[in-house]
Amino acid sequence: MNKSEKTIDIIKRIGNTSDKLIEVLLEVQSQSEGNYIREEDLKIISRELGISISKAFGVASFYSMLSTKKRGKYVIQICNSGPCYVKNSKKVAKIFEAILGIKMGEMTEDGLFSLEYTSCIGACDQAPAVKINEEIYGNLDKEKIYKLISSLRKEEE
Ligand code: FES
Repeated sequence: MNKSEKTIDIIKRIGNTSDKLIEVLLEVQSQSEGNYIREEDLKIISRELGISISKAFGVASFYSMLSTKKRGKYVIQICNSGPCYVKNSKKVAKIFEAILGIKMGEMTEDGLFSLEYTSCIGACDQAPAVKINEEIYGNLDKEKIYKLISSLRKEEE
């Protein structure tokens, strides 16, 4: 089954009505290599669900859990909303950038990590917090961030 057939298969399974758009996008993304939604898939989805390509693209680029840009296996989303911001989320971002050798919005060369900002992830009591795929990590400081990255790297060895 090629990538396009896989996308059509997902739509058949979930449903081809416009209210299924986010569900379809999430599933297509989760089955993609690179943790993102390809332009080709957006075209298929808009055609099959009977919505405009601009709407499909708009939704895919609006939600922080979705991406139209290739991302790492681990998507590190640094919360930048009020409570995290006042607890130095910018500094947290700088630490991640220094450890990974990339800037916000980029992906490491080995395809393992991507860095991006997000809005509140519901862990304000643990600010500054980040979300890595589905996991939340809070009360971050330099040492915790080092440990976190090295344990994720170990899992990949
Ligand atoms: Fe960062 Fe709520 S503001 S988790």
